[in-house]
Formats: sequence, structure tokens, C-alpha cells
Amino acid sequence: MIKEKLKTADVSGLDQFASPGLIDESDYETVNWEKDRETILRKISMIRRCLPIDSVIDFGGMWEVDGLYSRLCREKFGIPRVTMVDKFESENWIRNPSLRAGVDFRKGDFSDEQFMATIREPYDLALAYDVLPHQIDLRHTLPLMLSKTKRFFLISHAILPEKLMPFRNCLVLLSGSKSRSLIPFHEKWTREINYWANFSDATIINTSHWLWGMTPSFIESLMVGFGWKLIHKEFWRGWLPNSSKWKICGLIFTKTGSVGAGVRFIPSFEPHIIRFTGYTRLLTGKF
Ligand SMILES: C[S@@+](CC[C@H](N)C(=O)[O-])C[C@H]1O[C@@H](n2cnc3c(N)ncnc32)[C@H](O)[C@@H]1O
Repeated sequence: MIKEKLKTADVSGLDQFASPGLIDESDYETVNWEKDRETILRKISMIRRCLPIDSVIDFGGMWEVDGLYSRLCREKFGIPRVTMVDKFESENWIRNPSLRAGVDFRKGDFSDEQFMATIREPYDLALAYDVLPHQIDLRHTLPLMLSKTKRFFLISHAILPEKLMPFRNCLVLLSGSKSRSLIPFHEKWTREINYWANFSDATIINTSHWLWGMTPSFIESLMVGFGWKLIHKEFWRGWLPNSSKWKICGLIFTKTGSVGAGVRFIPSFEPHIIRFTGYTRLLTGKF
């Protein structure tokens, strides 16, 4: 297991994430590379770690990146079968057929069982990049995503570092005043978007209005419970503001074939905290 790196990565030598010449950023000009080049390159390098593979499914690959990871899989890694699933289509994606070349795009909701039943053949590798925190019910959606995945499941998104929370396996619904100090981009989001209108109303059941905070141990416990094993992890700050307590994670899981000890999901009496355990023992907590 690679040792957890909690220091800010040195982005001056980004070659460590993508070999020189692999990516010409001008080939992907609709992507805002300046926003967080480090995160994009790390996400790409995680795919590279799993090569060779024959097929990829990119869950939620559209917003702000116009299918970048799917396209890279086709064009740079030569992966023959690439499918991208998203319920949203960007203007760039609609207008520019070259973005769609070689990518089997399925417009739909990957938390919808009927839609997921239309995806028949499983894939060697699945990408879950910046999508899990927005799912209403991970116990429901994650197994649907895993059911389409044969070998590697890659997760990357902002997480609550373990040391910030009072216990392991934390899942926090970032809604309501109690979660204010945990929101990753609190100053920025309250300035630039109406955070409270967009994310703080737990009665809006829509992935664009939903945000969970989770610790890495929570994600690992959940995946182990579904029969997957963590084989690689890395942490970095990316575009997170210096004031943020969050980190961005990159996690690679492989299928073990055996389902782990019963993961239980019990809402605590604290409305914003849900505690997962890898065992049948249940705890609730405060922060
Ligand atoms: C924050 S963006 C992430 C984009 C890209 N994967 C990345 O890493 O930059 C989340 C994307 O996932 C899509 N999405 C989230 N939940 C979804 C769901 N249940 N079904 C289909 N698409 C979903 C959104 O429409 C959006 O395009």
C-alpha cells in the first residue's frame, strides 16, 4: 500500500503524472486546464496505472471536461471500448462531433436501475471521478456502478481527512448550519454561487443539489463491503483553497470476489452525520 501523502504535491514536476508528450493540452482545448491541472493529471495517471485494459466506463464524465477522460482512454491509451454515462450533455459536446468520436455516450442516470439494465456488457475499468459526493444514496447507486465493472474501480473527489473527524467511517450530509465549517469551498462558494440555495436544502432530491462529505475510511469500508479491495491511494490539495480542511483523494480498488463483513448503514440521531461501520457495531457521533 502506498503511504498516504498529505503534503501538497509539488506541481512543478507534473511529468510524474503524465509522461512527456502523452497529452497535448491544445487537443483538449474546451477543458480549463488552468483551474486544476494537477487533479486532471493525477486522474489520468490513475488510469495509466491500470493499463493494459480493453474497456472503460466513465460515470459522469461530462461537466466542465466534455468527456476528457473517456477521450483520453480512446485516443492516448488506445482502449478499444469506451462508454461514458451522464445525464447531462454540455454545449461543447452537442456542438462538436469530434469530441464524441469513438466514445459510446449513453445519456442517462446511473442511479436508475432501468437505465443501468440497458448497459449489458461489463467493463474492465470504471471511473467515478467527482461523482460519488453527489449521489443521493450511495448504497443504491454504487452497487449499480460496480455491477458494470470487472477489474478496477477508480474514485477521485474531495474528501474530509480522517483527522478532521472524531471517528472513522464518516459520511456527512453537507446541509444545514452545523456543516458550515466543513464545506470545502465555503468562502468561495458563498461568494460565487448561492451555496445555501444550491446545496443546503435536503428536500431537493437531485444530484446537482446534493453534497456529501466522506472520509477515506468510509469509502474503503463501503467498497470492502461490496467485495472490493483498496490497492492504491493518494491525496493532494489541487485547487482547494489553502483555508480548506479538505483534501482530494485518488483511490484504486480491485475486485476481490468476496463480499466483506456486513456493512451497516444507520442514520444517527444527529441529522447531518451518518456513520458506516465495517462491522455490525454501530456508533453515532458529534462534531
Ligand atoms: C462534478 S462533474 C464531474 C466531471 C468529471 N467526471 C470530472 O472528474 O471532472 C459530475 C458529473 O456527473 C454527472 N452525474 C452525477 N450524478 C449522476 C448520475 N446519477 N447519473 C448520471 N450522471 C450523473 C453530472 O451530470 C456531471 O456531468
